[in-house]
Amino acid sequence: MSNAKTRVVVTRKLPDAIETRMMELFDVELNLEDTPFSKAQMIEAVKKADVLVPTLTDKIDAGILARSGKNLRLIANYGAGVDHIDLASARQRGISVTNTPDVLTEDTADMTMALILAVPRRLSEGERNLRAGKWTGWAPTWMQGHRIYGKRLGIIGMGRIGQAVARRAKGFGLSIHYHNRKRLHKDIENDLEATYWESLDQMLARMDFISVNCPHTPATYHLLSARRLKLLQPHAVLVNTARGEVIDENALTRMLAAGDIAGAGLDVFENEPAVNPKLLAMENVVLLPHMGSATFEGRIDMGEKVLVNIKTFSDGHTPPDRVLSDSF
Ligand code: DGY
Repeated sequence: MSNAKTRVVVTRKLPDAIETRMMELFDVELNLEDTPFSKAQMIEAVKKADVLVPTLTDKIDAGILARSGKNLRLIANYGAGVDHIDLASARQRGISVTNTPDVLTEDTADMTMALILAVPRRLSEGERNLRAGKWTGWAPTWMQGHRIYGKRLGIIGMGRIGQAVARRAKGFGLSIHYHNRKRLHKDIENDLEATYWESLDQMLARMDFISVNCPHTPATYHLLSARRLKLLQPHAVLVNTARGEVIDENALTRMLAAGDIAGAGLDVFENEPAVNPKLLAMENVVLLPHMGSATFEGRIDMGEKVLVNIKTFSDGHTPPDRVLSDSF
């Protein structure tokens, strides 16, 4: 594939600097209005593109890929998660898929830590009260939350982001526990003073805070099912900055309403951008609009990765961030 001819279709508005560089390097169709593509527009895009640059808001399923033209050789996803792309179908059609790992690790870990702090310390609720004029002055028993220091944090998914959360949490005096498909190397475990639980069920039942940091795959869909959520202690707080689909959101909502779990901090939801109205009405939850990676720096870094992946691929080499379907 020669650079001059590489036709790139971008499905959403990207940072200006990234779009400009992309225009310099390739033959690009941008989406300056940032209106998400309809199904018909997506089919049109996969028919004409050599390289498609989608985001997590685009569903690229087998049906869409079946309509792709023979030129489509690369899906260079702007984002780390690739659960919106049918990887098996792409592989069958000889279409490579790349993503943007690493560069959103620290930002997502910051947001996770923010939620771990915000829920037990009632940050959103306190601010809502103040803005509503309900603050009449300091009082010994008003707006009490729960201490973070000295509690146990269970991390589900100890990849890059999980480990970055662990490093931060350790600094806040939390003791680190984790469940992962594979146990970490002893040196990393020692460094983080982390306790490994092969059994997720056993870990859930003993933690004060749980943080979901694993990708959404067929294996992790509703990993926190109604049955597993019931294992949590009533004072537990659950935080999710990964993907909504990992938690049975209806079951979680029922438990929060019944007081069977103390609170939740959610940056992601099962049916984004829809949020269960029952959650919206609750005081003991902090809800964010999927903004874990939303820093100016991070979004530029993600774009740089997309550029490098496309350029390397168009030059005939294996792009650095190639996603292998069986690695998820
Ligand atoms: C990703 O890249 O998958 C993140 O969820 C975006 O915030």
